Amino acid sequence: MSNSNGNVAVVAVLGAGTMGSGIAQVFAAAGAAVRLYDVDLARVEKARDGVKAGLAKVVAKGKLTAEAAEKIVAAIAPATSIAEASRGAELVIEAAPEDMALKISLFREAMAHAPKEAILGTNTSSLSITELGSRLGAGARTIGLHFFNPPPVMELLEIVRGVATADETVERARAIARAIGKTSILVNDVPGFATSRLGVILGAEAMRMLETGVASAADIDRGMELGYRHPMGPLKLTDLVGLDVRLAILEHLQKEIGEQFRPPPILRRLVRAGHLGKKTGRGFYEWTAEGPKEIR
Ligand SMILES: NC(=O)c1ccc[n+]([C@@H]2O[C@H](COP(=O)([O-])OP(=O)(O)OC[C@H]3O[C@@H](n4cnc5c(N)ncnc54)[C@H](O)[C@@H]3O)[C@@H](O)[C@H]2O)c1
Repeated sequence: MSNSNGNVAVVAVLGAGTMGSGIAQVFAAAGAAVRLYDVDLARVEKARDGVKAGLAKVVAKGKLTAEAAEKIVAAIAPATSIAEASRGAELVIEAAPEDMALKISLFREAMAHAPKEAILGTNTSSLSITELGSRLGAGARTIGLHFFNPPPVMELLEIVRGVATADETVERARAIARAIGKTSILVNDVPGFATSRLGVILGAEAMRMLETGVASAADIDRGMELGYRHPMGPLKLTDLVGLDVRLAILEHLQKEIGEQFRPPPILRRLVRAGHLGKKTGRGFYEWTAEGPKEIR
């Protein structure tokens, strides 16, 4: 059991990609023993190397001792099976691809080995926590623990409460957030939760403005950066997140909530062209080693 101050001794992290590796680092830095599992075992080693390299930069800046960095990396133990990762874990958190059937199968396997009271936390950005908990037959201890990219840097933890999530699970999640140095918000289980729902609608409106010639991408972004103090404009942010990822979220929210989430044609066109943003070198901007450049 996690104790009342939210410290978790053992955490299983399932999925060692972008989010899983960062989540593993966050818990390891907070003193937990982390077991990191991925279906692709090489990803676990890659994740540990990534954590190591990231921490080396923090050490170089003098913000962490080399010893402390080593301790964090050492606290992330590779697990070769879900069973090995989950045994004795008070919290099982998954960061596998956005696919309900896949997440259900991961948790089913974990539930067969984890303690009966372990919290089942999912990092899903859009899937229903209520449906996941119900299909697992464990709604009371299923909860959304939505981290932001990159997890070690971003301060927010969006806690998503399913219809059957127990008060005790919510309280434990809140305490865990504090213990790992995050500020949490509590949101009921609705499509897109609170953050994606607002974030994607701003991005979609910016795209509609761009394609109807209201202003250039850079000017739309600058407007929000300088006029509204957003650290990054909505189009640049879409490039960072990935245009394909944003398109999938908009399609999901259009189906679940309504027409205001209809994906703008420009987004579909760019995705079809393979312009997915920073990861492919081009989206609403061209991405070079020096950063984003305006496309004229
Ligand atoms: N990337 C983001 O900015 C972001 C932000 C918040 C939430 N999320 C959510 O986090 C989750 C993971 O996203 P990501 O960006 O880290 O994806 P990713 O593709 O970087 O990582 C997913 C990892 O899961 C592994 N995997 C696939 N099948 C598996 C299985 N059966 N068992 C264990 N591991 C398996 C893959 O090998 C990969 O390493 C998704 O649900 C996503 O919606 C992503």
